[in-house]
Amino acid sequence: MEADVERVLIAEDVIEKRLDAMAKEVRQDFPGEVIVVIVLLKGALVFAADLLRRLPRMLEIECLNVASYHGGTESAGKVDFLDRKLPEVKGRRVLVLDDILDTGRTLRAVADKLTEAGAAEVKTGVLLAKDRERAVDVEADYVGFEIGDEFVIGYGLDYQGRYRNLPYVGTLKREAM
Ligand code: XMP
Repeated sequence: MEADVERVLIAEDVIEKRLDAMAKEVRQDFPGEVIVVIVLLKGALVFAADLLRRLPRMLEIECLNVASYHGGTESAGKVDFLDRKLPEVKGRRVLVLDDILDTGRTLRAVADKLTEAGAAEVKTGVLLAKDRERAVDVEADYVGFEIGDEFVIGYGLDYQGRYRNLPYVGTLKREAM
């Protein structure tokens, strides 16, 4: 697996330090409240597991299965909700966690759905935000790292379902794609 990595973009220890700071920001914004955290599967799995363990407080964790890449390296331009039901969010403050903000369509669609479902507030956090123009009007409230507009893998991010378990964020060799 490691042999397919072209370049390590964000090393494991750098991610860990940044997560400490992000967790602090989240704690300050939601003092003492039981919030609902919605983890977008599967990409945000690793990020959420590490961030949420830095929030030593009462919260409820839900997952939402959404797809926009369909296995390749380009966003398909359409967000599919793969679950039959949304988590119960009526009147609740919600924090949505995703791995990466790219075109913005995923976060926009999820935030809109949760607002329609009666959430009192929807905040969003991403490990990575690509430095590019968004296709829709959205930015995340908490951003781990800004990166260039290139396809990345690792720390939850995949290429065709693989490389999610790399402990860092990197780029893939052309011959591995
Ligand atoms: P949008 O375009 O909706 O994209 O903001 C968000 C979703 O697209 C996936 N994505 C990536 N996955 N490497 C990946 O492995 C990438 O560079 C990348 N860019 C976007 C990801 O699932 C994210 O939730």
